[in-house]
Amino acid sequence: MTTHIGARVGDIAETVLLPGDPLRARWAAQTFLKDAVCVNEVRGMYGYTGTWNGHRVTIHGTGMGMPSLSIYANELISEYGVKTLIRIGSCGGMQDHVKIRDVVLAMSTTSMSTPSRGIFRELNFAPSADWSLLAAAAAAAKEMNIPTHVGGIYSSDVFYDERPDLTAAMERHGILGVEMEAAELYTLAARHGRRALAVLTVSDHLKTHEALPAKDREQSFGDMVEIALRAAFA
Ligand code: HPA
Repeated sequence: MTTHIGARVGDIAETVLLPGDPLRARWAAQTFLKDAVCVNEVRGMYGYTGTWNGHRVTIHGTGMGMPSLSIYANELISEYGVKTLIRIGSCGGMQDHVKIRDVVLAMSTTSMSTPSRGIFRELNFAPSADWSLLAAAAAAAKEMNIPTHVGGIYSSDVFYDERPDLTAAMERHGILGVEMEAAELYTLAARHGRRALAVLTVSDHLKTHEALPAKDREQSFGDMVEIALRAAFA
């Protein structure tokens, strides 16, 4: 047990999928895993462990934003020995060619500040995806015929952003989408020598102001789970 996770060491697999929403963790475990068992419900942040194609997998919520993800990723890495961490979440599209429902694989992340800012100070560390996971996820998405973009994303500290100038600068520099967790996940994976990737569905668009209807979110979420599982065990 850790401060925020009630599971015993051994209850959590070496490969963990990390949706922001704990109810999505439960849905994904019930839909994709065999013999899924609930291993955490502290603060309602559900975690489930089961198997997929014979491989042991845990699916665990992170909550929203880097400070929340940081708590769970730190404990999963340091206390439970997790080796592969794949975020499955949503992002806001920031380029015209990135459409609602498309998948974005985050190769690198830009941020204003992550919980690691105190360590790096003036250094602009570049949190990046694990190449083996990224390549395998891109191959899986292609096989599944899902329109997919690979590139840089923005990990924001706020959902309701007050800096349109920064958004414009990032759009000019090809940033594909915005979410709120991946930079910290990649930074922690780098620090501890683990593999990490963020697989994201475009759920809303900063330029067109479209949003994915709730019903479609489930289908897109399922696609991401499958891409993540295939990538993890490629
Ligand atoms: N902003 C920040 N995070 C997000 C968004 C957004 O528009 N969409 C999904 N996650």
